[in-house]
Amino acid sequence: MTGSMTNPKKILAANWKLNKSPREAQNFVTDFSKAEKLGLDFVFFPSALCAEVFSRSKLEWGLQNTYFENSGAFTGENSAGVAYEMGSRWVLVGHSERRTLFHESDAEIEKKLQRAWNLNMQPILCVGETLSERENGQTLQVLKSQLMAALGNAPESVKVQPLLTVAYEPVWAIGTGKVATTAQVQECHLEIFKILKNLGFSEKTSILYGGSVKPENAGELSKLPHVSGFLVGGASLKVDSLMSIAKNMQN
Ligand code: PGA
Repeated sequence: MTGSMTNPKKILAANWKLNKSPREAQNFVTDFSKAEKLGLDFVFFPSALCAEVFSRSKLEWGLQNTYFENSGAFTGENSAGVAYEMGSRWVLVGHSERRTLFHESDAEIEKKLQRAWNLNMQPILCVGETLSERENGQTLQVLKSQLMAALGNAPESVKVQPLLTVAYEPVWAIGTGKVATTAQVQECHLEIFKILKNLGFSEKTSILYGGSVKPENAGELSKLPHVSGFLVGGASLKVDSLMSIAKNMQN
């Protein structure tokens, strides 16, 4: 565990999306277990069919999406309660691919967060603007509205712990190879920090950046104020590139 009493934890989160079979996941876990952990908190978000592999490991993990009801007639959904029973203590909520491809609404995102908190799980709430929102100068407004909708009714207990991590992921930077500039990341992370503070969240709430993070840009981005780690998609699929990102976060 890293992080002093006053600093947010340094987190490196791997979002595997719809990649890897259980066998491939197992190979990754075996290789990763041999690598030096460098004092960072690693968290993995495999596809649901690979959850079993992680439940047998000592690694921290969560699902990429869970439903806000625990069980019942909800064909195709995954239960946060079952994931918890399998050892998951994390969950991704409101990833932009969920918001755009699967039309997840702010109201659903709020309910999914509440469900995670009821189970004492740590959600990573993803927020971020689209390219057209950025070009129209709406970035900070979009971040504020996504955060207020998701966190406006958060219970006091989760604000203090804090039982929340936020990931700033500009939609135009995800999987495109286009990384946000340091000035853009700095501006958005500061804004998120201020909004969380106004809502009463602990200053120890980790704010991650996500969107085309690679070993080559991780060093510079990790030095920015209020950047306490990364949510990584493509570059998290190989142990080598994930560990190079981790190393560059230390330098
Ligand atoms: P990327 O994905 O690193 O492949 O851009 C990040 C994410 O979607 O969380």
